[in-house]
Parts: sequence; C-alpha cells; structure tokens
Amino acid sequence: MSDFYNQINKNALPAHVAIIMDGNGRWAKANGQPRAYGHINGVKSVRAVTEAAAELQIKYLTLYAFSTENWNRPKEEVDALMGLLVSTIEKETETLNKNNMRLTTIGDTKRLPEPVYKKLMGCIESTSSNTGTTLNLALSYSSRWEIAEMVRQISEDVKNGKISSSEINDELISSYLSTKDIPDPDLLIRTSGEYRISNFLLWQIAYSELYFSPVMWPDFTKENFYEIIVDYQKRQRRFGKTGEQIEESK
Ligand code: FPP
Repeated sequence: MSDFYNQINKNALPAHVAIIMDGNGRWAKANGQPRAYGHINGVKSVRAVTEAAAELQIKYLTLYAFSTENWNRPKEEVDALMGLLVSTIEKETETLNKNNMRLTTIGDTKRLPEPVYKKLMGCIESTSSNTGTTLNLALSYSSRWEIAEMVRQISEDVKNGKISSSEINDELISSYLSTKDIPDPDLLIRTSGEYRISNFLLWQIAYSELYFSPVMWPDFTKENFYEIIVDYQKRQRRFGKTGEQIEESK
C-alpha cells in the first residue's frame, strides 16, 4: 500500500467528500485533443476516486458531473457528456452492486435527455438497497437553482399552512434541499488549480474544509485523493469555537 494510504487514520475519515472535477478541457487541449477526449479520460479518475472512497468506506462521495451552466456549452460537448454518462452507468451498475454501493443524484435531472434520465433512474433503483458508500452525482445542478427551489417550496408550505414562518431555521432549510438525506460535506476538493466554488453546494459547505488541488481532473489518481485525506486529518475543525474549547471537549 502507498505511503499516503498508510498515513490515513481510518477512524477519523470524512463522512462526506464532495469534488468539483475540473480541468478536463484544458487537459485535452494540452494533449492536442478535442474537449470530449478530456471528459473520456475524466471517467477514469471518477472510477479511481469512487473505488478509493469505497475501499476507505467513506459514506458519501458527491461528484459535480454537470452544472446548470454546462447546458450552455456547445451542443457537441453536451452530447458527448450525456453519452459518457449513459455508457458509464451501463458499464458500472454491476460494479456498484458488487461493491454494495448506492447511486443517488441531486439536480434538475428532469432536464436530462429521456434516455439518460431512464438509465440514471434504472441504476438508482437497482442500487437503492445497498448499504456501503453512496455515490451522489450532481447533474444539471447548481446551488442557486436548489436554493430557489427550496424557497419556492417553503413559501408554498407556509401558504398552505403546513408550516409557519416562525419555524424557518437552519435545520428546516436543510430539510428542503436536495441533500436532505446526506450530511454536509466535511471536505470539498476542487481540481485544476482554480480557486472557485462555481455554484456548488453553497449552503452545505458552510463549515467544510476546502482543498484546491493543482492536478487536472483526468490526471487525478487514488494517490492524490489519499494525500488530500491525510491533509484534511491534520486540520482542526472548530465550527466557530476556539481551539482550546475543541481540545477540552475531546
Ligand atoms: C470540468 O472540466 C468537467 C466537467 C464539466 C464534467 C465532468 C465529467 C466527467 C468527468 C465525465 C462524466 C462523469 C461521470 C460521473 C460518468 P472542464 O470541461 O470545465 O475543464 P476546463 O475548465 O479545463 O475547460
């Protein structure tokens, strides 16, 4: 086993890791290839990181696979990404089941082309009773879309008397988000050396540890992932308290 793997404290793992997989396009360009080539190679990294999360028994792994804004990319690229999603789901559903993994999704998935939506729902259904790692794909997702949906639903429920406006607090808001069944991410990773959040899980990352990796997503390996987990475990999470208070409560 690798150096970084051996340094991981298996009793202090993040319960939820979220990843903004960035750099496919630039990686392809640097290799003199069309952007879709970057996405094809990005799937290898998806596989590697999913496997690493499952082996470590990390409970939730959320991958930002397609944003609301990505619908504005050239049709050719959107089609390539949708095709990759279908072929990956076809190829990997059995692997997910063999590894007791569950697939879930967040986002406006109704906007996905019918065949993609059907494949996705088929895989979600087929893996729904698995109890190991949950692979959560953010598809046609953006945080502002999700927040607007939450506000719409809360106002509906106030209007129809289901809840009263005085009940609105952090917890209630979280229960109206698409991540209601998932704990907030402990760790958010973005690859490709960009220091942005890009409309991803804005509410949920209030206390997440952030890690910006310079590695382009198609080059991202299990080893890179292990290294980040080791770094995460060296940090002290204070949630607004003092370092002394955290030490005392241990
Ligand atoms: C960002 O790179 C990546 C995406 C928009 C899509 C990520 C998709 C995959 C890795 C493949 C499909 C996923 C699954 C789960 C099967 P970019 O194109 O923004 O790169 P750039 O910033 O260099 O242009």
